[in-house]
Amino acid sequence: MTEYARLIVDGKEYNLPVIEGTVGDKAIDIRSLRQESGFITFDPGFGNTGSCKSAITFMDGEKGILRYRGIPIEELAEHSSFVETAFLLIAGRLPSRAELTTISVNLNDLSLLHENMKQFYQNFPSRTHPMGILSAMVNAMRSFHPELVDSKEDLQRTFLRLISKVRTMAAMAYKVSIGQNPVYPNPNYSYCANFLHMMFDTPVVPYRFDKDVSDALNVFWVLHADHEQNCSTTAVRVVGSGKVNIYAAMSSGIAALWGPLHGGANQAVIYMLEEIQSKGLKISDVIKRAKDKKNPFKLMGFGHRVYKAYDPRAKIMKTICDKILKKTKIKDSLLSIAMELEEEALGDPFFQEKNLYPNVDFYSGIVLRAIGIPTNMFTVMFAIGRLPGWIAHWQEDFFDPEMKISRPRQVYTGETELKYLPIDQR
Ligand code: SDX
Repeated sequence: MTEYARLIVDGKEYNLPVIEGTVGDKAIDIRSLRQESGFITFDPGFGNTGSCKSAITFMDGEKGILRYRGIPIEELAEHSSFVETAFLLIAGRLPSRAELTTISVNLNDLSLLHENMKQFYQNFPSRTHPMGILSAMVNAMRSFHPELVDSKEDLQRTFLRLISKVRTMAAMAYKVSIGQNPVYPNPNYSYCANFLHMMFDTPVVPYRFDKDVSDALNVFWVLHADHEQNCSTTAVRVVGSGKVNIYAAMSSGIAALWGPLHGGANQAVIYMLEEIQSKGLKISDVIKRAKDKKNPFKLMGFGHRVYKAYDPRAKIMKTICDKILKKTKIKDSLLSIAMELEEEALGDPFFQEKNLYPNVDFYSGIVLRAIGIPTNMFTVMFAIGRLPGWIAHWQEDFFDPEMKISRPRQVYTGETELKYLPIDQR
């Protein structure tokens, strides 16, 4: 039996249907509101607005719960591979062994770039940020791979092509930036190990496979694979709603992720920790700065639009941190600064009252440093991980008969009607 929300405004009463999700989350369906009442709702940043129905990822921000297609992130981080998790997000179920083998073969077959794409890298200025390169290269894929979504096979191949080639593009951006020739994918390596091979192999120092390092990267990408309607996924859905090709939609996700308030935070956390270290800043002074409303400084890697509890991914990232530092015998002084910062912030009433906890970005940079990834590649690492989530949401939106082109309304605060003034009267 449908429940209704009663709205009384301007002396009139409107009954708006309530829709309920599978775990009891409820929403007031306002699709008829403007037509019936002339009113729209107002919610800058959409913090209280459901933009779609989705069956991909569930988050409970108050309880710190994250599930991909119903499976808790803790179980996937412990048991799954990034490729298997990508299949789960996109297909909606875990793959069979045979399917997993087929996917791995296809990912290998699709891992090369068109040789002409390599020319692009020579023409970017040397200091170009790799997120700008990645966004441009993914967008350029449309020109090299015109077959898109005409058949289910085309679609699956396009998804695998994106997931496979994004590694090659990212590693190539790094190699070119350090003046080395790009390294071709090696068919003997798994998804994660192949990326590390393309990043770190050189003709004089061959890449030495280390299972613990590859495993750490695998968990890093599983943790980043999806996060329901975050900023970059919303960008993919909005751009995709205009029915542009999937590569352009993915490229918009990369651009949206780049910002320091979103995926760029992992890079910003390291810069913050390095500044504390290099300037010998007192942790208490940094905390004070973060609490000062007049100061735009925010504690990078802390706080979240949805999580008002400890980000479950940050907990897992912290254990990966400890493991990889122990294995690589790296003593990263930034880790002790991060832990001191976390302890002081979590003990401070300001952070407690505002429910500000470490998010996925707080420890992820330390893990990437231990793997040997340069800081300016951190957000690229986030993008590679998030790609399967963007694909799953693009697909869900593209084939949802209820979805329309995204086109929000506004509350207009500009001039009322004015006369045009000829230039000699201005
Ligand atoms: C990601 O959405 C997702 O799911 C994103 C993501 C994903 O996987 O896709 O999880 C990945 O982007 C994680 C977030 C990474 N960003 C950072 O770490 C940057 C630092 N964090 C903040 O800038 C901030 O917390 C945001 C941007 C993440 C959220 O901003 P909101 O929505 O304004 O946070 P809020 O409403 O909870 O803030 C409540 C109060 C505000 O102050 P008042 O207006 O009440 O006075 O807390 C303050 C905020 O100004 N606040 C902070 C703070 N975060 C929020 N103050 C100091 N330091 C911070 N980090």
